[in-house]
Amino acid sequence: MLVVEGLTCRFGAKAAVDGASFEIAPGGFVGVIGRSGAGKSTLLRTINRLATPTEGRILFDGVDVTALRGKELRQWRARAAMIFQQFNLVGRLDVLTNVLMGRLAAMPAWRSLTQAWLEEDKALAMSALEQFDMASLAAQRTDQLSGGQQQRVAIARALVQQPDLILADEPIASLDPRNTKIVMDALLRINKHFGITVICNLHSLDLARSYCDRLIGMAAGRVVFDGAPSALTEHVARELYDLEASEVMGGVPLPVPEAVPALGTAAAA
Ligand SMILES: Nc1ncnc2c1ncn2[C@@H]1O[C@H](COP(=O)(O)OP(=O)(O)OP(=O)(O)O)[C@@H](O)[C@H]1O
Ligand SMILES: [Mg+2]
Repeated sequence: MLVVEGLTCRFGAKAAVDGASFEIAPGGFVGVIGRSGAGKSTLLRTINRLATPTEGRILFDGVDVTALRGKELRQWRARAAMIFQQFNLVGRLDVLTNVLMGRLAAMPAWRSLTQAWLEEDKALAMSALEQFDMASLAAQRTDQLSGGQQQRVAIARALVQQPDLILADEPIASLDPRNTKIVMDALLRINKHFGITVICNLHSLDLARSYCDRLIGMAAGRVVFDGAPSALTEHVARELYDLEASEVMGGVPLPVPEAVPALGTAAAA
């Protein structure tokens, strides 16, 4: 269980995340939505501790993640695997080596210096690539792949970290519609098949509503919506995006909200 309590992250006078509180039960697929600058990336980076919270706490299974240092902090970063818009792979290295990088946090330092990968780690990396139909490309230079293929390599790398959480920051922002679907389906597979909690920042409300079982809406650093996608009314969408909701909804009319569980319970159900 991930518990975020009064989380604030300031850059100078600006609160990029401002008093965010929510709980995420294991196994959820949570979308974080909101306009540019709302604080979505900072929220994910703070959870992973790439950004340092100014106030508040993050607890995971009762452990105060905000207080971790040194080796324990490195281990947390591996357990909360990040996926970025720009993939963050090493282009000149082959696909398999990029996936194996996800094993580094689990290796003793001396072994990572020798760069001798264990056979069992190679097998794990190959099986992760197989999950996403990428095994045949294991020996290819990574910078020769398409964007959608590169993002699948990044997802395979995250998977071999054997994480508790996947934090995906606009993972499809630089992809075409076909690759968008392939990559979102890969994240859905990680969530449903492996039971790993996914928290995914998305610009598109349509995508968020079709893939996520819960949405957290942010505006000016604050959580202004937390609930099932069906509870996201046009009124809330307008508040989130500060424009005509139909523009971000892609012209698709919104369903009439049904009876929706209380805020925050969707992922726990
Ligand atoms: N390292 C930083 N230093 C200073 N200000 C920052 C930093 N990171 C983020 N900010 C500011 O914090 C606010 C939230 O930024 P953030 O990147 O989290 O928003 P976002 O919702 O991810 O936006 P986008 O949809 O454009 O990615 C913005 O006003 C941004 O300029
Ligand atoms: Mg962002």
